[in-house]
Amino acid sequence: MSYQYQHDVLIIGSGASGLSLALQLAESGNVRIAVLSKAAVNEGSTFYAQGGISAVLDNQDSIESHVEDTLIAGGGLCDPDIVKFVVENGKESIQWLIDIGVNFTRSSEAEGYEYHLHQEGGHSHRRIIHSADSTGKAVETTLVSRVKAHANIDLYEFQTAVDLILGNKAGLASNRCVGAYVYDQKTNKVNVFRAKTVVLATGGAGKVYLYTSNPDICTGDGIAMAWRVGCRIANMEFIQFHPTCLYHPEAKSFLISEALRGEGAKLLRPDGTEFMQRYDSRGELAPRDVVARAIDHEMKRLGADCLYLDISHQTADFIIEHFPTIYARCLQHGVDISEVPIPVVPAAHYTCGGVMIDKHGRTDVEGLYAIGEVSCSGLHGANRMASNSLLECVVFAHSAYKDIRKQLPHIEAPAPLPAWDETQVTDSDEEVVVAHNWDEIRRFMWDYVGIVRSGKRLKRAQNRIRLLQAEIQEYYSKFRITNDLVELRNLAVVAELIIECALLRTESRGLHYSLDYPVQSVDATVHNTVVQRQTIKKSKTPASNELDITREIKRV
Ligand code: FAD
Ligand code: SIN
Repeated sequence: MSYQYQHDVLIIGSGASGLSLALQLAESGNVRIAVLSKAAVNEGSTFYAQGGISAVLDNQDSIESHVEDTLIAGGGLCDPDIVKFVVENGKESIQWLIDIGVNFTRSSEAEGYEYHLHQEGGHSHRRIIHSADSTGKAVETTLVSRVKAHANIDLYEFQTAVDLILGNKAGLASNRCVGAYVYDQKTNKVNVFRAKTVVLATGGAGKVYLYTSNPDICTGDGIAMAWRVGCRIANMEFIQFHPTCLYHPEAKSFLISEALRGEGAKLLRPDGTEFMQRYDSRGELAPRDVVARAIDHEMKRLGADCLYLDISHQTADFIIEHFPTIYARCLQHGVDISEVPIPVVPAAHYTCGGVMIDKHGRTDVEGLYAIGEVSCSGLHGANRMASNSLLECVVFAHSAYKDIRKQLPHIEAPAPLPAWDETQVTDSDEEVVVAHNWDEIRRFMWDYVGIVRSGKRLKRAQNRIRLLQAEIQEYYSKFRITNDLVELRNLAVVAELIIECALLRTESRGLHYSLDYPVQSVDATVHNTVVQRQTIKKSKTPASNELDITREIKRV
């Protein structure tokens, strides 16, 4: 038995972006909102954010300076209007978070700003408000408790959106987005969620790489779903690798915040020597792309499994006060960071590209919005500056809220939509294929499409992803879906988009570094890499596992 749920707004994702939007819509009056989360409501990158949220809060700082730092980090590809818009809305967004109850760390200094501010790579001022070293947990748990208490919001956990539904495909006159097919992990059924407006707030795609700071939900589902309905996707080659994740066999995905470097921590080779000044005069506080590449280069040059980050010049009291989570986690793995350097390696961390949106979070498809890490708003360009992401989530949640609120009274609720059709599929007889393909994608993406790329490696990856895509599409068209299969199908799309965008960029810029084109282009052709899916040549009924035989990627 499958269900049809009806709401005014369907928000897919319960991180900082999705929940901020849900709360603002709910408080604005009589709007029924559904929020979906693929795992428990807390689970997503937001919960694990450490360093904090950047905004101009201190009198010594300025909007111009935050804008300039963001533009420099973005390697010439940021949209200056969007950067200004986000930065100008920073203080108000932080105040909103304070008003709903987020407990930021206060300053112990007698004078100056009331909250303590961190400094991170690329920022020329201390401007990162934080809650010790678990800012994301403070933000997420506050949002969750407010959302759970709100009568206008229905929260659906362990629900995986599979595909968006467009009006035309469902036999309606208009082609706006009218809902989504959603796989219920508890019943293994696919239900229909219909709504006047749909919002993708599904986060990033770090799981496409073998080593990542991201939690398991980050499989790029929103990017893949938007791609399939024809939205333009931009700048997927710009995958940010965080320079410092804990290197320990049992420490899956644990980040060592850049804020440690803001408090003077030094990167060291295994022999204890420093090296960052050789790569950039800003040393440890150079933007992330520079630091990650320097570490990668040193590791390869020395054949080292990891390098080290040393904050032992600070007292144990200081470290425990400012970085209690990192201190405790490292200690759990036998590393007392007040005494010895921390073994670190880079890992995939942030998806700078994504679904193209305007200032209101609107995508190319009417009725479909995208906010947060799933989107490409123009804020990050070729390299996101540290702690600008949570800011983007809150600012775009607010601008999308204003736009949706204005549109809602003029939109009719969609009529019932076709149910998901499982008549053509059976249960899988070889689920090992799914696990094997997951592993294969993540490995070759790490080996061939990592921090340093070359045309040869990218072509190798392209050949493999094409074969895998065909295999996955065939499997998907034959067998009943599972959560792993839905994610694998999306990972394959995202991997292919990263590879294709990387092949299209014949220069090195920001996070994309190619051995074949090591220099940044100086001519006037600085551009975003924008791609769109070609028309579907063949598909089964719209409400079933779609057999997609076109993987044509059109540059637009
Ligand atoms: P997320 O918080 O990732 O939430 C995504 C949501 O979408 C989840 O609820 C998930 O269940 C849901 N979802 C996904 N797919 C589906 C689907 N198919 N169906 C239903 N639901 C789905 N940024 C900063 O600015 N400052 C920091 O200090 C910082 N530290 C970080 C530390 C770590 C370890 C990581 C991983 C990231 C950090 N970032 C930081 C980046 C920042 O946390 C993220 O970019 C941001 O939290 C993304 O928020 P979001 O709402 O877009 O997505
Ligand atoms: C960190 O604390 O280093 C992560 C900050 C970010 O990703 O913005």
